[in-house]
Amino acid sequence: MKIAVLPGDGIGPEVTAEAVAVLESLALPGLTLFQADVGGIAYKRHGHPLPQETLDMARAADAVLFGAVGDPDCDALDRHLRPEQAILGLRKELGLFANLRPARVFAGLEHLSPLRADIAAGLDLLIVRELTGDVYFGAKGQRVTDTGEREGWDAMSYAAHEVRRIAHVALRAAAAGAHKLTSVDKANVLETSQLWRDVVVEVAADYPDVPLDHMYVDNAAMQLVSHPDRFGVVLTGNLFGDILSDLASAAVGSIGLLPSASLGERTTAHGTFGLYEPIHGSAPDIAGQGKANPMATILSAAMMLRHSFGREAEAARIENAVSAALADGFLGGDLGGSHGTAAIGEAVRARL
Ligand code: IPM
Ligand code: MG
Repeated sequence: MKIAVLPGDGIGPEVTAEAVAVLESLALPGLTLFQADVGGIAYKRHGHPLPQETLDMARAADAVLFGAVGDPDCDALDRHLRPEQAILGLRKELGLFANLRPARVFAGLEHLSPLRADIAAGLDLLIVRELTGDVYFGAKGQRVTDTGEREGWDAMSYAAHEVRRIAHVALRAAAAGAHKLTSVDKANVLETSQLWRDVVVEVAADYPDVPLDHMYVDNAAMQLVSHPDRFGVVLTGNLFGDILSDLASAAVGSIGLLPSASLGERTTAHGTFGLYEPIHGSAPDIAGQGKANPMATILSAAMMLRHSFGREAEAARIENAVSAALADGFLGGDLGGSHGTAAIGEAVRARL
């Protein structure tokens, strides 16, 4: 079980330290951890947000535990040197096209949601976000038009094979959990989305037992906060998935609770190679203060045990321990509580 730990910037080191402590407390045989710099800290120390050494270490591991990247000091750098390029580069270089972002309201914690409790209670869904295509990775640039005005542009595109493979991931997840699948696009305006919809329909023919519907992204945003119970598995592209997953996390109560797994095709001895990260960012405003909620990263470690190491029992132990710690009132500032990073980590470990 070789894990590359990439803490990154801001609160990244604090939250990954707690997730590592949780993994270590399970005393799993053969657990080996490596650590490397990524993001703004890597730029400052090595001149690049994703140094070759870090990429090599990630490649040599069975799984990557990633904290967060983003550093206001680096905002003025050329785009290819900014911290965010590290996570985009890892996703692309490691072929991690499938991003799983589960979002659910913990039973008994409906009051933590900004939604009305009766609505929040119905929120239990999985966002399957395509992660290596779309406008994120298309050609982009700035130019000066004929009239001398500056213009920015970004090309959005999806090739059929990119849609096909992520559609299979989402359909398999829906079939496994007996959920329906909602494919989210903007086919009323975008050709990229029309292709997306056509391919999803084609692939879904292989899964006759999975109920499928299609929703425009604006409507999906509205339904997610008004009728979250209408969703099971949500399949969407890179940009829409970025936006909707933040929306879903806010509806749960805090972005500090949502984990993610990014998977590709490469397999390990007991599962799939993957990168695991909280969906929140580096939160520079609270970095280094011991205030960040480590639960999203701890839950990401649970997803790692499940998807990369075939350790379902330990994954469930971690998830149950987090639920129990929440139920016992170990709430971070993100949830209106006053517990710090270390206290929350300790509370979770005590409940394993
Ligand atoms: C996410 C983040 C990233 C993204 C940023 C940091 C590039 O917002 O993982 O959702 O846009 O994918
Ligand atoms: Mg995001």
